[in-house]
This record gives sequence, structure tokens and C-alpha cells, in this order.
Amino acid sequence: MLEKGENKEYLPIEGLAAFNKATAELLLGADNAALQEGRVATVQGLSGTGSLRLAAAFIQRYFPEAKALISSPTWGNHKNIFNDARVPWSEYRYYDPRTVGLDFDGMIADIKAAPDGSFVLLHGCAHNPTGIDPTPEQWEKIADVIQEKNHVPFFDVAYQGFASGSLDEDASSVRTFVARGMELLVAQSYSKNLGLYAERIGAINVVCSSPDAATRVKSQLKRLARPMYSNPPVHGARIVANVVGNPTLFNEWKEEMELMAGRIKNVRQKLFDSLSQKDKSGKDWSFILKQIGMFSFTGLNKAQSDNMTNKWHVYMTKDGRISLAGLSLSKCEYLADAIIDSFHNVS
Ligand SMILES: Cc1ncc(COP(=O)(O)O)c(C=O)c1O
Repeated sequence: MLEKGENKEYLPIEGLAAFNKATAELLLGADNAALQEGRVATVQGLSGTGSLRLAAAFIQRYFPEAKALISSPTWGNHKNIFNDARVPWSEYRYYDPRTVGLDFDGMIADIKAAPDGSFVLLHGCAHNPTGIDPTPEQWEKIADVIQEKNHVPFFDVAYQGFASGSLDEDASSVRTFVARGMELLVAQSYSKNLGLYAERIGAINVVCSSPDAATRVKSQLKRLARPMYSNPPVHGARIVANVVGNPTLFNEWKEEMELMAGRIKNVRQKLFDSLSQKDKSGKDWSFILKQIGMFSFTGLNKAQSDNMTNKWHVYMTKDGRISLAGLSLSKCEYLADAIIDSFHNVS
């Protein structure tokens, strides 16, 4: 149903104004200095993927010599997006199989070794596929190195609110960088946190050093979007703007996200408890608790993941990633048996 004043006409190339305002404020906080000073160029995108793709086209056109750096491993589509936009990329170390944790020293060394002015793709929260996020102190150190090297941070925020249950906490990595006065890009998605997968709603935000630069960047993003898809769809944008603009709906959304994130945390705890009780080898499973978001890296290799599927009928990606969103408390013990068997009996 159309509301009064709404119509089925095209949106402007940059999308729905009320959505762009709401999405930038959700990301940075309404009182953020960069927003107040008009230094943020926000353009509605075709969800997270389309926003990343538009930003990649922007990098390719205006920084043709620049390289992108992506974490190893990362969400599979990142490589496709940069390949498709003809942005050369290389990987920085991220996952340490020995600890099933962050290879922080490797990450820092690789970011340092990259050519100055590279675009460093960072997962704002709930790293996909590992579920391993840097701590606030580590984020500060990552920001130090990126600044030293004149790199440009390029955040992918696909799970804001869905990781910790708090929109603000999940945006704290991005806000740390913005507070330093850095120029950066942030792609956002509402697929997971508002369940708007099929509406293709997201945004690309470019935080600039001046309002003038933001105006120019926005104009160039529009020039790139026009021949790609002309203008974005309206329905998801209206949903986000309406939810955020209505205090009752906004609170309901926040409560539901907290509930979802809390359920995933409970499942993590139960899986950890089951593994620790059943596995008599003394192996430390606490990495499960340190990870965040809907995914967990189990540390299982391809042969072990195959065993999970063939013997136990647990279906997971071959890199050892499981989705906790699809796991109920009552299935944690069975999953723990499957993981322990695969870990100890298959090499
Ligand atoms: C890290 C990451 N970025 C971006 C996306 C993009 O999703 P969408 O295009 O549905 O917004 C996803 C979805 O799985 C993701 O995990």
C-alpha cells in the first residue's frame, strides 16, 4: 500500500533522502562530527553487494593505480567484486589455524608491506567466515598502521546490530577510525539485521575531509551508478526509513536484534560446554566463545568437514565454517559429538 505522498516514480540516482540520512546516522551516530559538518557522501546501494561494487568502481575509476587488500579468508564475493571492477587485490593474513584466532601480527605486517595508498577492506563486525573480530585495542593499532601508510580503510558492515545485539557497539570499529579524522568508505547492508534480503537495500558512505570533497564524491558515485542501474529500488529504503523514524518500531527492531544476538550467544555457550564436557583430550575449545556473529570457524579442515557431512549429516562449508543461526540448543550435543569425532579421527 502506498502511503500519502508516496508514489511509484523513480527514486533519484542517490536513492531515498530519508533512507540515506537514517543509514548514515545509524552507522556513525546522529551527533557524529563528520555528519554534522556535512563531510559524508551517502548513496543508497543495491544492498551490501551492490554498495561494495559501486565503491569498487569508484576506486577503479579514480585510483587506477591503487590495490585492494582483503583478509585471508574473507567472504567469497569480495574477490569477485574486485575482479569484476578490475581492482587488483592481494590478501593480508587474518586467520591463525593454530589458535583458531586472529593472526594479528601477520595482519599488521601485511598491511604495512602493502603499497602506500592501498584500500584495506575490513569487516566492521562479525567477520565472515571466521567470526573472529579484532579487540578495540587491536582496532586502534590497525588504524595506526593504516594512517602511517596513507591507506584508505574500506569497511564492509553487513551485520550491524546482529553481532553484539547493539547497533552502536557493532559500529564502534568504524567510529574509531572516523574519530581520528580519517577518510574512509563504508558499505552497509540491511539483509541480515532487518531481514530485507530480497529488497536489496544498503548504502555506500564515503567519509571525506571536507564538505566540498563529499559533494564531489557523491556526484561521482552518481555518475557511476547511472549507467549501471540508473536508480535503486524504493521499497526497502522506505522500510528502513520508516522503522528508524518511528520510535516504537525502532525500539521493537532493536529488541528483536538483541534477542537474535542473545540466542546465538546462548548457542555458542552450549556448544562450548558440550565440547568441553565430552572431549576428554584437554583441547581448548574457548575460541568458540571468543568468536562473534552468526558464523563460527570450527578449525576443521576439508577432510574433517567432509566427515561432518558424510558421517554425521552436518552440512557446512568446506572451510570449516558453521552457521550458528541454523543451530538449536537441543542439537548442540549432537554437533559436539560430530566435531569431536571429525577432529580426532580424521586428519
Ligand atoms: C561480509 C559480507 N558482506 C556483504 C554481504 C552482502 O550481502 P547483501 O548483498 O545481501 O547485502 C554479506 C552477505 O552474506 C557478507 O557476509
